[in-house]
Amino acid sequence: MKINDKHYTTIWESADLRSVNIIDQRFLPFELKIVELRNYREVVIAIRDMMVRGAPLIGVTSAYGIYLAALEAPKNQKDFEIFLKQAANEIVSARPTAINAKWAVDKVIDEIAKINDIENKIAKSLELARAIREEDIENCRKIGENGYKLIKKIAENKKGKTLNILTHCNAGWLATVDWGTATAPIYFAHREKIGLHIWVDETRPLYQGAKLTSWELYNEGIPNTIITDNAGGYIMQKGFVDMVIVGSDRTTADAYVVNKVGTYLKALAAYDNNVPFYVALPSSSIQWTDNFNGNDVPIEIRSEGEILKVTGWDGNMLKNLDLTYKNAKALNYAFDITPPKYVTALITERGVCKPNKNDLMRLFPEKRNG
Ligand code: MRU
Repeated sequence: MKINDKHYTTIWESADLRSVNIIDQRFLPFELKIVELRNYREVVIAIRDMMVRGAPLIGVTSAYGIYLAALEAPKNQKDFEIFLKQAANEIVSARPTAINAKWAVDKVIDEIAKINDIENKIAKSLELARAIREEDIENCRKIGENGYKLIKKIAENKKGKTLNILTHCNAGWLATVDWGTATAPIYFAHREKIGLHIWVDETRPLYQGAKLTSWELYNEGIPNTIITDNAGGYIMQKGFVDMVIVGSDRTTADAYVVNKVGTYLKALAAYDNNVPFYVALPSSSIQWTDNFNGNDVPIEIRSEGEILKVTGWDGNMLKNLDLTYKNAKALNYAFDITPPKYVTALITERGVCKPNKNDLMRLFPEKRNG
């Protein structure tokens, strides 16, 4: 998608194929800073410190992390394996809730384990990371197509009046490689000239909504308004929201949706006000293993500093200021779990389905046996 009318993706390979480039999202929307990740440890830092973020992008970055680890690993079989295992553990633990990291890392590690020659393992890990990146773009595009049909239907009922969509956090192109998940249907609808207005939850404590989603939409020319996280319920009661679309960091096979903290409260408000609540997700965000309700998903607890301080732009640089008194304590749950009864439908790359295992398996029959 666009920044100042120029097309960008969030991650791309360097010309010599010995590093990957990312947009350091901590500086957006104030500065467009491109950072080169030269080894897997820099990948771990980029994921942990949220230079890159959003489940699908974490997955793609993780896959490249394994490629970079393969490049730098000792070139004898035993030490190569040990090095890669260590890298895989560190990468997956950097942000434990988004399942895409594990999905991508397992995919690369499992495939290259089938190859004997180390140079071929390195070549294969690059090929796989590339394929995962391309697949993410394509899956988000398909989510856009599938979600657009839902928007179109609701827009038809509005008979030309502006359609209001609420979204939480950033599940836009910055959280993926391109298009986004929750925003992809919005971008499709905008291109089809459906009149839209987006309510953007600011998303405390890191403000991904205010800093990223709103700016993304602005760059695409889509009218949007930032609201406090707590305002969504009231504007739904007033009838100002026609649908909610959010992303997901992990969805269980039983359709429990783990997403940025605050998603659950928005789902409750939507349910109480008969506002359809959609979750847009690529299948790389689905945890197919075990038949569980999300209770054993590791919910990331981030530093209390993210709550007790506030980061803003003073016109020249980012400043991190105290939000409250010196000895204040905070607890920073980064995600919450929305049960399927509050979800109207899931929007995936294979189509739209009801939030239950049977209907998910209808779209992904190859997952029936775990
Ligand atoms: O903590 P973040 O910024 O990585 O959280 C991102 C979200 O919660 C998104 O809504 C989710 O990852 C879906 S991204 C397409």
